[in-house]
Amino acid sequence: MLRAVVIGTGEYLPEKIMTNHDFAQTLETSHEWIVERTGIIQRHIAAEGENTSDLATIAGQNALKDFGISPDSIDLVILATTTPDDTMPSTASKVQHSLGIKNGAAFDVNAACSGFVYAMSIANSFIVSRQAKRVMVIGAETYSRIMNWEDRGTCILFGDGAAAVILEAQEAKGTNTDRGILFSKIHSDGQYTELLKTTGGVSSTKNAGYLTMVGREIFRHAASKMPASVEEGLLETGLGKDEIDWLVPHQANMRILASVAQKLGIGEDKVIATAPMHANTSAASIPLALHQAAKDGRISRGNLIACPALGAGLTWGCILLRW
Ligand code: UT7
Repeated sequence: MLRAVVIGTGEYLPEKIMTNHDFAQTLETSHEWIVERTGIIQRHIAAEGENTSDLATIAGQNALKDFGISPDSIDLVILATTTPDDTMPSTASKVQHSLGIKNGAAFDVNAACSGFVYAMSIANSFIVSRQAKRVMVIGAETYSRIMNWEDRGTCILFGDGAAAVILEAQEAKGTNTDRGILFSKIHSDGQYTELLKTTGGVSSTKNAGYLTMVGREIFRHAASKMPASVEEGLLETGLGKDEIDWLVPHQANMRILASVAQKLGIGEDKVIATAPMHANTSAASIPLALHQAAKDGRISRGNLIACPALGAGLTWGCILLRW
């Protein structure tokens, strides 16, 4: 059978960094409150004129360059984003062109903070059904553009960034020791759309609006659905919790990460956490964490990795993959 195996990763974080102290200048908040409730210390913010496609392109270029992969060999680009450059064309189409990729197709996926898990799940389907051989999956976001900078309950939580993962179809035995995606499952429940949304959009208000969230409710859903989605993967594959080398969850809040790890009985030393330095970069958060941990040597070939996520929709899901 075929497996979708990660053969390269790349990232891009905008140059400008905004610290918690910067917020305390204009809002009734403090570095201490933000660290205590979220674990976030700083976030990157895209420069004026620096768009989601620019972030995604640099992340994609870095993945191609650092792993010696030719753009000609990529036959599908899936870009997970909730903050596209424009209403149309898709941001993926722009990125495909700027990366010099001429084969196959390119499209965006909007599943908010679950976007990367959704995009990986779709990429996996294309690979195992032999419709694509090398897929670039990118998570790229400029949430700074949809923040209400006067709402201390949301604007301190998010940041901008992008990361790319290149998946390749490789023949495998069809067992849990294979490299590649071993499990992927995505879910949504539209009854919760009001909990996390923007105040506008193309058809409703003709502008993007800004993000609003019922933080406590989202926290509650994340703390239960993320571990449940990992359990679902373990049950289906027959893998054990103790076989997970790294938990790489969506990076919304360090308290959520700790709660997910605790519910799964996974030690915090096995959790990859980038939330303190990046804040919540939505669809970019998991690939950024994967890239950074692979680059610094924590994640190595053969490691079993669990990536659960939850976001607006509500959407949620998990991929289990062997590096
Ligand atoms: O990516 C998926 C989506 N995102 C998430 O998963 C995020 C989920 N939610 C959270 O991370 C947390 O709910 C927050 C960090 C947003 C908030 O933490 P909390 O412990 O749930 O606090 P809260 O919303 O219950 O607010 C407690 C108090 C409130 O004051 P009162 O009403 O008790 O007087 C807030 O107004 O803290 C206040 N508050 C703040 N105070 C200082 C809210 N934001 C701030 C702030 N600085 N930035």
